[in-house]
Amino acid sequence: MAEQQKDLMEKLAALCKRRGFIFQSSEIYSGINGFWDYGPLGVELKRNVKDAWWEDNVRRRDDMVGLDCSIIMNPKVWEASGHVNNFNDPMADCKSCNARYRADKVFTVIALDGDNILLQSGVEADYPDDATESASASANSKTRRRLKQRGDKLQWDVFRVDKNPDGKTAICPACGGELTEARKFNMMFKTFVGAMEDSSSVAYLRPETAQGIFANYRNVLDTSRIKLPFGIAQMGKSFRNEINPRNYTFRSREFEQMEIEFFCHPDEADKWYAYWRDRRFQWYIDHGLTSSKLRLRDHDEDELAHYARACADVEYEFPFGISELEGIANRTDFDLSEHQKFSGKDMTYFDHDSGERFVPHVIEPSGGVDRATLAFLCEAYTEDEAPDEKGNMQPRTVMKFHPRFAPVKVAIFPLVKKEGMPEVAHKIYDDAKAAGMSAFYDEKGAVGRRYRRQDEAGTPFCVTVDGQTMEDQTVTIRDRDSLKQERIATDKVIQYVQDHLSGKAEG
Ligand code: GAP
Repeated sequence: MAEQQKDLMEKLAALCKRRGFIFQSSEIYSGINGFWDYGPLGVELKRNVKDAWWEDNVRRRDDMVGLDCSIIMNPKVWEASGHVNNFNDPMADCKSCNARYRADKVFTVIALDGDNILLQSGVEADYPDDATESASASANSKTRRRLKQRGDKLQWDVFRVDKNPDGKTAICPACGGELTEARKFNMMFKTFVGAMEDSSSVAYLRPETAQGIFANYRNVLDTSRIKLPFGIAQMGKSFRNEINPRNYTFRSREFEQMEIEFFCHPDEADKWYAYWRDRRFQWYIDHGLTSSKLRLRDHDEDELAHYARACADVEYEFPFGISELEGIANRTDFDLSEHQKFSGKDMTYFDHDSGERFVPHVIEPSGGVDRATLAFLCEAYTEDEAPDEKGNMQPRTVMKFHPRFAPVKVAIFPLVKKEGMPEVAHKIYDDAKAAGMSAFYDEKGAVGRRYRRQDEAGTPFCVTVDGQTMEDQTVTIRDRDSLKQERIATDKVIQYVQDHLSGKAEG
């Protein structure tokens, strides 16, 4: 099972590189760990994810406005938010091979073999090998199981360096050496603003977009006449100097977030929390993440940050394990109150209807664009069969993206490069572009091979102009998923694709 999942991840990464979805950053110089580039197809896919989020959460609502804040802010923002003091990960090094780990992700498995204690270790959410698979699974879930010899059954004992139940030292997953005590490592990237490189010019690359929203809450309130309850949304780059970037784009050092801070009366915070938690969960289902791989996990009391009243994670079963896509938290009045304290600026809201003044409470749905994109890529990856030119079924790889996300919506092929076919195909291509549809024109190679390329790109429709087109002005249109081919009038192609993508058409 673990091998199969690892295989799947490798096949997906190979497809992403081959087809131009995702490249390693600065690959010509052997890359740089934790940084990724999106290629021509990837950038369209990711943009479609962002556009869908913005459309659904900002443009279609009358209680939401958007912001686009600077990445570098006054460092006091990060003091007030607690990031300077608390945005730490525990780090541990191997005393033998110097490998560095996020200490809370290293686990050690103890198995009893008669009187012998066998130690194995691994890194949570890494590709588990068979021996540590069940340990990885239980380390990922909340419950940490202890190994007990019950009858002839062995159970796993999983613990983390910082939560070691027996005071035992965890061992290095790479070489079996002893790990150092865990110590704190602040994950904010530091830089200097201006010509002087001293402590007075230190600044940080933002580790989340949320604080830009809190810092501008007063500006938005004073300039937009919006009334409580309302939200401010922001999407953009965030940076974290992750100790162990891993699992492809899942945990990167530079990534994009899509965050909402929804401000409301304290008495309504529970209601709005439930609303956003359920709405955000549904958004992923509506965009094709099958509910069996998607889950909504409410945090237990002991998992909550001290200021949070409630929190839930939208989690997805990636090939490397179940991991978080988005967190929805009830952050109470913590952020606004802290900024009020540190900045001396009034963050209260005056409700003219009730005559009441208070600091609003905040519900925060905070998602990762790259993680969502990776989940949509994993979900889309399908291996099935399609007929070749002679009608024989052949294996194919197809990316079954939700129509909203497909990077290219329609591909147009002339069957041959003569007899007027390229001209007709070009006209359809130009019409698609003029209609704002991302389209692709391809006249090279056998049609079967062209279909395969578009299947790997996840293109929902392929249109072929052939000999019959020249006689009766019809073309064939092939559906990526059902493989059904229909003949339709050449001048109906754009409408057909638009109707099928928007779900207006039947079938
Ligand atoms: N403002 C709250 C906040 O930033 P978070 O759980 O730290 O909360 C929110 O981050 C989301 O940002 C995560 O659910 C994830 O989707 C994304 N994210 C966080 N760290 C990431 C990383 N290193 N690489 C990719 N995405 C990341």
